[in-house]
Amino acid sequence: MTEPRRVAIVTGGAGKLGSAIAARLLEDGVAVVVADVNEDAAAAAVAGFRARFAAPCLGIATDLGSLEAIESLVDETGSRFGRIDVVVNNAAVNRRSTLSELAPDDWDLMSDVNLRAPAILVSRALGFFKAQNSGTVVNIASRNWVSGGPVAYTTMKAGLVGMTRSFATELAKYNVTANAVAPSFIESDFTSYDRDEEQMRRLLEQYQAITPLPRMAESRDVANAVAFLASPAASFITGEVLHVCGGAQLAPLPRTPLAVERPAPR
Ligand SMILES: NC(=O)c1ccc[n+]([C@@H]2O[C@H](COP(=O)([O-])OP(=O)(O)OC[C@H]3O[C@@H](n4cnc5c(N)ncnc54)[C@H](O)[C@@H]3O)[C@@H](O)[C@H]2O)c1
Repeated sequence: MTEPRRVAIVTGGAGKLGSAIAARLLEDGVAVVVADVNEDAAAAAVAGFRARFAAPCLGIATDLGSLEAIESLVDETGSRFGRIDVVVNNAAVNRRSTLSELAPDDWDLMSDVNLRAPAILVSRALGFFKAQNSGTVVNIASRNWVSGGPVAYTTMKAGLVGMTRSFATELAKYNVTANAVAPSFIESDFTSYDRDEEQMRRLLEQYQAITPLPRMAESRDVANAVAFLASPAASFITGEVLHVCGGAQLAPLPRTPLAVERPAPR
């Protein structure tokens, strides 16, 4: 008997890493739902994917800050494909700030999109996982979870790792695996938000200096890791964090204006 085609939801699937992940899953023959708040970017990404890949692809405009939107995403995916095999929680909002400048509204926005949405999405997809007795969750964390960094972002990413471990233990009985992928620095709208060209150049240099492998990450590196964790080849791997950092997870955070300001030595 042939296995049914796997179906994946990729949140933030129109962005830099999300579109690379969606493309990589489509390459593996997985049907992909691109769920993104940026409707135009999602439509453009889906049009491009349809021209390149035989596996089906659907764009669903979704604001993950809205609980109703998450319910509709799951319902629409279910009615179009009849199953959900893979949830890639990739979308995130980036409002960098130091502790002294921390804005409660930014915290709430990040908490809703970066932390609450992945939990609610998986909780709503759970009915499919249970019925299928299978499923896979891949959460896109960040190297910051281990190195520290801007407080709200880092807290959410560390929380996402905790959530991954919680999913792994709670959902194992349904044959559901949950893992996190933690990339380091890749240039995107996300990393360039609120930074000028000079700041980006310096940041890139600093990351190059702390990355043992002699190149920087590309979105394809992250997509390959996700495709592996989402595949049957990884069916006995759960609760892990896979760093896609060229070894930079072993190094301290680069000193940026957002890094800890050190007082003069006493
Ligand atoms: N780029 C990096 O260096 C890097 C490093 C570590 C981790 N990450 C993580 O990778 C993920 C993707 O980052 P990226 O660099 O591709 O960013 P990106 O800005 O290119 O993509 C993010 C996507 O999420 C979408 N999005 C934002 N808010 C949303 C919402 N409310 N509902 C639905 N979609 C929403 C955006 O429209 C965008 O398409 C994020 O979770 C980020 O934290 C990125």
